[in-house]
Amino acid sequence: MNFLVTGGAGYIGSHMVSFLQKKNFNPIVLDNFSTGKKFLLKKCEILNVDLTDKIKLSAVLENRKFDAVFHFAAKSIVSESYLNPKSYFNNNLEGTKNLVEEMKKNKNEILIFSSSAAVYGNPITKFIKEEHPKNPISPYGESKLLCEEFLASEQSRENFNYCNLRYFNAAGADNLSGIGEYRDKETHLIPKVLNSIRGNYGPIIVYGNDYDTFDGTCVRDFIHVSDLVEAHYQAFKKIRDEKKSFTYNLANQKGFSVLEIIKVCEKITKKKVNYSFSNRRKGDPSTLIADCQKAKEGILWNPSKSKIENIVSTAWKWHASLK
Ligand SMILES: NC(=O)c1ccc[n+]([C@@H]2O[C@H](COP(=O)([O-])OP(=O)(O)OC[C@H]3O[C@@H](n4cnc5c(N)ncnc54)[C@H](O)[C@@H]3O)[C@@H](O)[C@H]2O)c1
Repeated sequence: MNFLVTGGAGYIGSHMVSFLQKKNFNPIVLDNFSTGKKFLLKKCEILNVDLTDKIKLSAVLENRKFDAVFHFAAKSIVSESYLNPKSYFNNNLEGTKNLVEEMKKNKNEILIFSSSAAVYGNPITKFIKEEHPKNPISPYGESKLLCEEFLASEQSRENFNYCNLRYFNAAGADNLSGIGEYRDKETHLIPKVLNSIRGNYGPIIVYGNDYDTFDGTCVRDFIHVSDLVEAHYQAFKKIRDEKKSFTYNLANQKGFSVLEIIKVCEKITKKKVNYSFSNRRKGDPSTLIADCQKAKEGILWNPSKSKIENIVSTAWKWHASLK
């Protein structure tokens, strides 16, 4: 089978590519390499295109047939989205619109979309279900919600179906494939802590220790990237078989505070983390924990790699292997 993976040179996208290659499928990567890296990809066809470049996109996708499109390509740094909201709406929403237009033109019917817990905003329940109100508090979250709304308006039973997968925090690495999380400018907690331990990043700043949580720091729900990409494949099969559209949360239904994550990193690496507290950051809800029952039942998803120790130890193996 042929699959298009937009953002396939990024962290999660490259794990999707590797997953599909292990199944002997043919993933084709579409990426503008704004944050993605070629070295995360084993031999595969690469379309070096920006989704906002309609003319080039149309030319490279003309007459191409894919069993499904996995759409990871996006800008995804919350703090940056406040500084330049327009670029987020342009890249994420217009990019998605262009992609769907080309899919329809070429009769490609299944899209799996990387959405985010950021669509919910500040939670009003302890465990967030898919029906939870959507009140994004950042332009990034808003751009993802607008994409979901756009996809809903494009859905048509016979010709175009999609699945919104709302991830909470992806982390960990696929050590057997020799890939992991790598960004020039890291903003995610676990790689930041591990980079700091390796001496490639200064002391860790913990943003806020006065949240309404048991130790005052933000609580997040982490899912192993390998469990995440497995869910994408399951979602594809569900749409192919049922010709309907769906939305699922993807996470681990367990919350860990920033300080707990730092402690797990210290335990796994046997090294001390140098950190200090500063003020809260804009756009950070206090607690984000998913209810994922719908995905477990709907796409028969059984995340087996997402114990926090496994997430951190696979991430550490990857980070420790970097020069
Ligand atoms: N990492 C997480 O914890 C997390 C959580 C929730 C949602 N998500 C979503 O998952 C997706 C993948 O996230 P990631 O962490 O792998 O990010 P990433 O930055 O590592 O990967 C994004 C990829 O998309 C490419 N890209 C960006 N804009 C593009 C464009 N206009 N045209 C072509 N390529 C483009 C980048 O070069 C990069 O390779 C994103 O949509 C993100 O919003 C991630």
